[in-house]
Amino acid sequence: MKYVIIKISFLPDFCGYNYLHMFFLILFLIILTIYCVFAVTQFYHIIFKGWAPFVSTDIKTINKIIKEIGSFAGSNIYELGCGWALFLKQAEKSFPSAKLTGIENSFVLFWLDRIWTILFKSKIILFKQNFFAADLSTADLIYCYLNNETMAKLGKKFQAECLPGTIIISRRFPVLIFKPEKIIKINRQKIYFYKI
Ligand SMILES: C[S@@+](CC[C@H](N)C(=O)[O-])C[C@H]1O[C@@H](n2cnc3c(N)ncnc32)[C@H](O)[C@@H]1O
Repeated sequence: MKYVIIKISFLPDFCGYNYLHMFFLILFLIILTIYCVFAVTQFYHIIFKGWAPFVSTDIKTINKIIKEIGSFAGSNIYELGCGWALFLKQAEKSFPSAKLTGIENSFVLFWLDRIWTILFKSKIILFKQNFFAADLSTADLIYCYLNNETMAKLGKKFQAECLPGTIIISRRFPVLIFKPEKIIKINRQKIYFYKI
């Protein structure tokens, strides 16, 4: 107890800190810790599990994809590895009656998204989960921006679980076991559209 009191009274004098400085220092350390946890887990998943890294689809691309798919009101839309869930956030504006589900394995991204959905009263449902463990049988549309290795494995999962008529959209990485219904190019990136 003596040590703690000495330390607290010592720090402000020695470093010229006041309570506001201390508050920002602690905030900075919390953000740095969260960032380090995020970086280490991403590194682990990318190197040892072959998972896709966190890179967001830009809003311009998302808006063009949503324009392309037409109406998906009242349906069940999934974003696998949702990151910031930007696809779902834009889909919520275009299809307010759709059921929107995001699956993200990163603890940090999941909680940042979760806080966002609470603050903005979004009806996006989020799961902190490996999407290979998710049930995709009720999906009407699935959006992915992942990598080749993951799309190859997901192809088999789509084949086994998804009902005929389910739309799969993959940015940049094709699902080789399916023949695309169409391929469009946005910002020099191919977007693959499949219908199961
Ligand atoms: C390239 S980012 C795409 C993010 C978002 N879908 C977008 O387009 O902006 C891929 C995301 O998938 C997540 N991810 C990769 N493999 C996953 C898995 N097996 N289960 C859940 N999330 C995964 C990563 O953590 C990362 O956030």
